[in-house]
Amino acid sequence: MAHFVLIHGLCLGAWCWYKVVSLLQSAGHRATPLDLGASGINPKQITELDSVSDYALPLTEFMASLPDYEKVILVGHSYGGVIISLAMESFPTKVSAAVYLSALMPNHHSPIATALAEFFKRNEAEPKMDSQVWFDDGPENPPTRTLLGPKYIAAKAYHLSPKEDIELATTLLRPAKLFMKDLSSESLLTKEKFGSIDRVYIVCKDDLPINESLQKWYIENSTAADHMAMFSKPQEVCKCLQQVAEKYN
Ligand SMILES: *[C@@H]1O[C@H](CO)[C@@H](O)[C@H](O)[C@H]1NC(C)=O
Ligand SMILES: *[C@@H]1O[C@H](CO)[C@@H](O)[C@H](O)[C@H]1NC(C)=O
Repeated sequence: MAHFVLIHGLCLGAWCWYKVVSLLQSAGHRATPLDLGASGINPKQITELDSVSDYALPLTEFMASLPDYEKVILVGHSYGGVIISLAMESFPTKVSAAVYLSALMPNHHSPIATALAEFFKRNEAEPKMDSQVWFDDGPENPPTRTLLGPKYIAAKAYHLSPKEDIELATTLLRPAKLFMKDLSSESLLTKEKFGSIDRVYIVCKDDLPINESLQKWYIENSTAADHMAMFSKPQEVCKCLQQVAEKYN
């Protein structure tokens, strides 16, 4: 039995996991979906979030409350990938693995903001439709807040989802801050802590905002192996081969 802790993306909340939570529980696992700051039914407003740490606080408090011997599997969707990465850095001994579900996956070689900047660069020319983006630091600086609109999510994010879930989302979406400035700092993630935890990426081929090529960019950008990985990363190669053996033997 595993304990999964599920972290939503921007504007969403714990509610977006309701189907996955019940399936995981039916399969005999524990599943804990959390609302981050000013998300879902979290009582804070975004004006009360001064930093990415304020936003991530519900996960930080949850991780701190776990007994020393207990480990969880962190799962992050979309921007949730940023938040689970910060928790991996703060609580490396309490995380047995991290799962990125079509998520922003930062690495310890570049500032976390690099992952976010790549997302913006690739979506710059895409129509925003009824989604809103605010530039509180001036138009020459990166965006600071966003709120996804019902037409945008129906066309770009939930285009393969049941209509009922689009209606649900439309009533529950809340504005979110992006915290680009906080995430520009160099050493938020280290090889020793964040880098010590196994990461799994679930690629979603039909995702539009974080499309397959961007998902693969996150994977490749975090894998600092040269062409001869069997010399430079023998342990990682061996671990992957063992997983193949477990699956196909
Ligand atoms: C992903 O989006 C980029 C634009 O950011 C586009 O050039 C590319 O063709 C898309 N790739 C896939 C696999 O959809
Ligand atoms: C990841 O992307 C950044 C920004 O484009 C770049 O500076 C860095 O060299 C890339 N790292 C790898 C391992 O590809």
